[in-house]
This record gives sequence, C-alpha cells and structure tokens, in this order.
Amino acid sequence: IKIDEFQKDLVSWFLEEQRELPWRKNKDPYRVWVSEIMLQQTRVDTVIPYFNRFIEWFPTLEDFANADEEKILKAWEGLGYYSRVRNLHSAVQEVKASYNGIVPDDPEEISKLKGVGPYTAGAILSIAYGKPEPAVDGNVMRVLSRILMIYEDIAKPKTRKTFEAAVRKLIDHEHTSAFNQALMELGALICTPGKPACLLCPVQSHCLAFEAGVQSELPVKIQK
Ligand code: ADE
Repeated sequence: IKIDEFQKDLVSWFLEEQRELPWRKNKDPYRVWVSEIMLQQTRVDTVIPYFNRFIEWFPTLEDFANADEEKILKAWEGLGYYSRVRNLHSAVQEVKASYNGIVPDDPEEISKLKGVGPYTAGAILSIAYGKPEPAVDGNVMRVLSRILMIYEDIAKPKTRKTFEAAVRKLIDHEHTSAFNQALMELGALICTPGKPACLLCPVQSHCLAFEAGVQSELPVKIQK
C-alpha cells in the first residue's frame, strides 16, 4: 500500500463527503468524549437527539461535573447501559478535581479515567487533540481487515492490537481527526458488513480484498 496516496484519498473523501453530525461542529474534548460514549452501544441516528439534549442540559464539562445523579440519569433515559453515564460522570468529576477541568491529552493519563478504554482514549486524543493515536472499534476492524486483507478473528480480544498497529503505520499525522473519523465513516457508509459498496469507495485502488475479490469474506469473526 502506498501510504501517502492512501491517506490523501481517504482524508479528502472524508472532508468532502462526511455527514454533518452534531459532535462534529467543534473539537471540544468533552463533546467528543460524550459522543463516543453514547455511540459505543447505540446507533448514530438514535444518538443524535440524545446528544443534542445532553449538550443543552450540560454545555460544558463543568456543568456536567456539577449535575446531580437524578438529572444525569434522566439525560440518559432510553439509551440504556446506564453504567456508561455513571462512569462518565465520575470520570468528568475526576477531570474537574485532578486536571483543572481539562481532559488530559496524554494516552496514559486519559486511560486512567473510568470508562475510558483504548477506543475512547484514541478517539478523544486523535479527534480533539490531533494526536496520532488509533481508535479501533468494530467498524474500523472491518474496513482495515479488507484493505489490508487481515484474516485474524476480530472476536478475539487481542486482535484489536493488530489493527492498532496497522493504524499507527497508516495514520496521517497532519490530519489525525479526519483520518480516524474517515475510517469510521467509510465503515458506516461504504465498507458495510455483507456486501460493501466497493464501486463508490474512495480507497478501492488501495484495497487488497477488492483486488482479490474476497471483501465479503472479511472480517473473520468466529462465533463464540
Ligand atoms: N461511531 C463512533 N464514533 C463515531 C463518530 N465520531 N462519528 C460517527 N460514527 C461514530
């Protein structure tokens, strides 16, 4: 793969074709954080109105840190997985108490926060802070398994590390936010499960699975 051409094709597609989503209006790390936690088990279309109301109720990290339990649960009502908002609330209070209200921009520090796993850490660091960190979720594994023809079982927890290493090699250091979000967007819009829309794909010419005609066999996911 020609990395610089791949980056250019992927990032310019994203800059032109990305959906207008409320968490893309600015790069406030708090807003990126809230959106990524909401998006973990919930679809984009469902998240949009919840995200907008959440930001109306708690416009800043400080507002959310100071909110009471009843109101934060109310804001999450209907999204499910309430441990997500409980963890987010205690992590935001920790940021207020120990980091002057500034979400840490360091991988080690940010990963200490409750509910911030490798995916969330990478998403905040790359989208809000421009750090060249991977943000690998199921969508990103699907996209990269095809582009690079990686046949590792994505149901195995340690497989994520293979994909993180791949992103570290491929990521555009000048456009970390667009690069990582482009992988997510490609997985959502083009490189979908089952039969992907390869004829519309901006990185078709870089895709090993397309070249071999095996895109519908990937990713490998062995049922547990
Ligand atoms: N899924 C997870 N993170 C996302 C994001 N930032 N934009 C769109 N879909 C996503």
